[in-house]
Amino acid sequence: MSSSPKRIRTAVFPVAGRGTRFLPATKASPKEMLPIVDRPLIQYAVDEALAAGAERLIFITGSSKRAIEDHFDTDTELERLLQAQGKPELAQQVNSVLPSYATCIYIRQPSPLGLGHAVLCARPAIDDEPFFVHLADDLIDAEVPCLKQMADTYQQKGGCVLAVEEVPRSETDKYGIVEVDAPQGKPSKVSRILGIVEKPKPEEARSTLAVVGRYVLTPEIFVELERVGQGAGGEIQLTDAIARLVQRQPVYAHRFSGRRFDCGNKLGYLQATVELSLAHPVLGKDFRAYLKRVAARLD
Ligand code: UTP
Repeated sequence: MSSSPKRIRTAVFPVAGRGTRFLPATKASPKEMLPIVDRPLIQYAVDEALAAGAERLIFITGSSKRAIEDHFDTDTELERLLQAQGKPELAQQVNSVLPSYATCIYIRQPSPLGLGHAVLCARPAIDDEPFFVHLADDLIDAEVPCLKQMADTYQQKGGCVLAVEEVPRSETDKYGIVEVDAPQGKPSKVSRILGIVEKPKPEEARSTLAVVGRYVLTPEIFVELERVGQGAGGEIQLTDAIARLVQRQPVYAHRFSGRRFDCGNKLGYLQATVELSLAHPVLGKDFRAYLKRVAARLD
């Protein structure tokens, strides 16, 4: 790339999907507000983006998503109540949901036409600059936040960066699958993407390297998103736009360090709850003891 990479200050959170796999829980409230221990998924997402340097947070919302806006609003009434009840720590927790330097922007996706369409909805709020896309239902527990790892790769390489991980071949039809230029059997942390296909059948997939819900995208993606038509499932697919971009500029696959939980499905959500409860500084010890009692009962 000719110019040096810019700092990434904007994060886009597409939260307009209907979350049908979690019905009826998601009928009137967003999937992204499901809590893991004591924080909703969207709070984990925002915290990760802030840790990676973002300060402009763009939420692409749809119907039944008002709770997300309410969550990030200041609630002085609640803070005052907690202070009056002698619970200053809780008041502080409510207050620190969002730091004062961060700005929230809410853009409505008129109907859920796909992840690519959701990202395109962010265009009016994004200048000629790179940005993060974060899917809150992919929770990644990592020592260095996943978006921070990817921002570092972007600063070194420029171009788009996609978080990837190996998945079982039987599951390729749930993901965008990339083909990279690394020699087989010699996986490197960052490699250039040669091609990407949305949800290929296991027998047709060119690899088992799957894209997960973290992206660094350059503004050129918008041009491609406007050109692609409806893809798999009749939706405007982000994967299809990236496939076109791969022909024009370097796009990198980044094997992140950390553990991903697919909280968009019930089993992944339960696994995240158990693992993060075990690691919780206050609850962890008691929860571990409880799990041991459960395990003994199952034996
Ligand atoms: P999913 O494929 O998980 O779809 O979307 P979903 O509707 O959220 O959930 P299910 O499959 O019905 O249970 C991946 C991400 O893209 C967002 C979703 O909110 C989720 O974060 N998305 C998807 C949009 O914002 N708009 C869309 O049109 C589609």
